[in-house]
Amino acid sequence: MPGEAHRWQALEHAFESLVQAYGYREIRTPAFEDTDLFVRSSGETSEVVSKQMYSFVDKGGRDITLKPEGTAPAMRAFLEHSLGGQGVVTRLYYFTQIFRYERPSKGRYRQAHQTGLELVGSPSPAADAEVIEITVRFYEALGLKDISVDLNSIGREETRARYREALLTYAEPYLADFDSDFQAQARKNPLRLLDSKIDVLKAAMDQAPSILDYLEDTSKAHFEELKKLLGEAGIAFRVTPKTVRGLDYYTDTVFEVVCGSLGDKALCGGGRYDNLIAQLGGPATPSVGVAMGVERALMAMEAEGLVTDQPGLDAFLVAATESARTTLRGLARDLRAVRVRTGLDLDGKSLRSQMKQADREKARLALILGDDELARGEITLRDLEKGDQVCVALEAAVDAVRSRLG
Ligand code: HAM
Repeated sequence: MPGEAHRWQALEHAFESLVQAYGYREIRTPAFEDTDLFVRSSGETSEVVSKQMYSFVDKGGRDITLKPEGTAPAMRAFLEHSLGGQGVVTRLYYFTQIFRYERPSKGRYRQAHQTGLELVGSPSPAADAEVIEITVRFYEALGLKDISVDLNSIGREETRARYREALLTYAEPYLADFDSDFQAQARKNPLRLLDSKIDVLKAAMDQAPSILDYLEDTSKAHFEELKKLLGEAGIAFRVTPKTVRGLDYYTDTVFEVVCGSLGDKALCGGGRYDNLIAQLGGPATPSVGVAMGVERALMAMEAEGLVTDQPGLDAFLVAATESARTTLRGLARDLRAVRVRTGLDLDGKSLRSQMKQADREKARLALILGDDELARGEITLRDLEKGDQVCVALEAAVDAVRSRLG
């Protein structure tokens, strides 16, 4: 709604100016993609693919899906338009809508928005550190204080295969109490048990084996280096072995930023996805990225008292007599040309109702023109915030307004 849109604009602006300083360039992908893209990338057993996709067959018989996330579309476009190259690092950012058939609740919607980053083509832990650093700097730029970075490594496919088995062995006794559908789902993707919201499982998972004990040496070294780099950048984090993420494309590093005021909902999520581009038919291209929920960032800002009211107009022009209107239309044109946000009555309203309108628009200044002023070639400039007023020459009105506004 118009009353809130300025918050979105401020957030977008904070994000863009930050990521552009790191050399990221914007990518805009279509609202829908082939369904297969998401099935192949996010994984058939992921919650997003198995339960949440808005998929349909179009009139041409194509199976398409409204994008539930931005990474796979960006990588599909990256490949289709040959954005990368051997040894080249590509930095992309986006601002996108996502569609997920979720159970709606505060901070969880069926149509939501994300800002995201994808750093494509670097295997280095320095790339992971860069993405995490930008994420934290973004929340700092918004003014959020009560945030923490949950960091984990889920290793490579071999690690996860061994860990899945260990986790399932551990979880089996607890599964007996659940129905066969639940058990089948858990056996297919036991990692999902780790962030279960069911109390018994939640408690059980606190004692579950840690994936960090199953990492291969290269993953361990990668994780150690990443932690060192984050320390160097002054980024506080905690290692949380239960953070495994809901999408299948991750390798090694995964992370989320959580916020005290959002409870169990994450502000953002991301990680490394070294196999995704190869899975989509491209060359092996190690990459890492993050997506931040816009609604959640705004909710957190609200909870921390950081949202500001929409700024009002800079100036409202008030005609005290009919003959003043032509001059005021000209003045409005001059003010708007220098981007002073200017309001003007269109409907021949009375002086009183124009002043009311200036008030409603939260105008900082009112410029009032009547016959007397017109004859003298002047205009009254009233500062509605401070309550004082002066007469200024009509031809100096634009400068007077700008200097008042600073
Ligand atoms: P994700 O964890 O599925 O990751 O979503 C990232 C963030 O988007 C969440 O932490 C949350 O803030 C927001 N979000 C997701 N679903 C909803 C919803 N239904 N309502 C409101 N907010 C929501 C991804 O999407 C990955 N593509 C992130 C990534 C980028 N990984 C690598 N690069």
